[in-house]
Amino acid sequence: MTALKNDRFLRALLKQPVDVTPVWMMRQAGRYLPEYRASRATAGDFMSLCMNPEFACEVTLQPLDRYPQLDAAILFSDILTIPDAMGQGLYFETGEGPRFKKVVSTLADIEALPIPDPHKDLGYVMDAVSTIRRELNGRVPLIGFSGSPWTLATYMVEGGSSKDFRKTKAMLYDNPQAMHLLLDKLAQSVTSYLNGQIMAGAQAVQIFDTWGGNLSAAAYQEFSLAYMRKIISGLIREHEGRKVPVIMFTKGGGLWLESIADAGADALGLDWTCDLGEARRRVGNQVALQGNMDPTVLYAKPEAIRTEVGRILASYGKGTGHVFNLGHGITPEVNPEHAGAFLRAVHELSAQYHE
Ligand code: CP3
Repeated sequence: MTALKNDRFLRALLKQPVDVTPVWMMRQAGRYLPEYRASRATAGDFMSLCMNPEFACEVTLQPLDRYPQLDAAILFSDILTIPDAMGQGLYFETGEGPRFKKVVSTLADIEALPIPDPHKDLGYVMDAVSTIRRELNGRVPLIGFSGSPWTLATYMVEGGSSKDFRKTKAMLYDNPQAMHLLLDKLAQSVTSYLNGQIMAGAQAVQIFDTWGGNLSAAAYQEFSLAYMRKIISGLIREHEGRKVPVIMFTKGGGLWLESIADAGADALGLDWTCDLGEARRRVGNQVALQGNMDPTVLYAKPEAIRTEVGRILASYGKGTGHVFNLGHGITPEVNPEHAGAFLRAVHELSAQYHE
């Protein structure tokens, strides 16, 4: 394997010294980029991009070619590949987000769900990871990812996106044993899926718990955090002679940082509702932090974006252990030049915080 030319992302996650604060953006390959929209048109649709390793590699590299400041690449795929591989039949209705042909409603539905084999059932993702690693040729590290069991369960039970998670919450409170069985099967699936990605070449992994913050404090512990803890304890933590850092991102998890920090990950992803400096004081030396600019700041002018980047860097203060990111994914309406201004500002303004 080629040696990494830029490893400041991995170093910051492990709290090793860096020259400037590393940066990447959640959803950095996506619809705000005209070159992404062109590739999607050629492939036909979003899932065809994901299922063809050459296309997945092409769109993964697009933001890196446009923005030399990016310190990491993220596999182009989706969290819903796992429920699809469990037989739920994922499809995308234009403008309506993800949908499933089959919905999980009863204990019998859950008992019938298979645990996918990453190589047999999700081989296209493993191939995408190894293709991207080869093409990156050591430029920056590659991040693999998965959804959290709770977040995946919401899509499987609702049959798609939801505002109130009515069916999923009803199942959780009416039939907690059924919900636990579903989450346990998902935790097993996610563990082998992420380990498959690591063996195929992912150099860090992120667990997206996008809907964890929608649970009560007690339900979060029992139905989301417990399963992420279980996944993390089953992950390969060293590969190719290097640590493979794990990042946990619970959107809306700011109130529970101490217990999230205790779940075994190397870093926590933060949304923009918490103060980064305060989060650092709360988690102490236990984990690194990733985040947390409000993605809608990118609608403002470059000068305002730069001011906000400066504010967040000052809030974190001196030293390593911070990976700059947005607090959630970049949105399709963002002007790509504003994303460029954001990334440049992070490197330019952060040098003063490192020795
Ligand atoms: O960050 C990256 O660049 C990697 C790619 C990535 C995608 N989805 C591509 C994508 C990642 C990491 C995801 C994760 C994902 N997918 C999450 C967790 C992160 C988050 O944003 O909270 C969730 C909840 C999903 C499920 C999902 N996939 C939804 C709700 C949608 C529709 C959303 C929308 O904006 O329309 C998708 C589709 C999707 N996944 C797109 C992309 C680029 C847009 C598809 C298109 O091109 O039309």
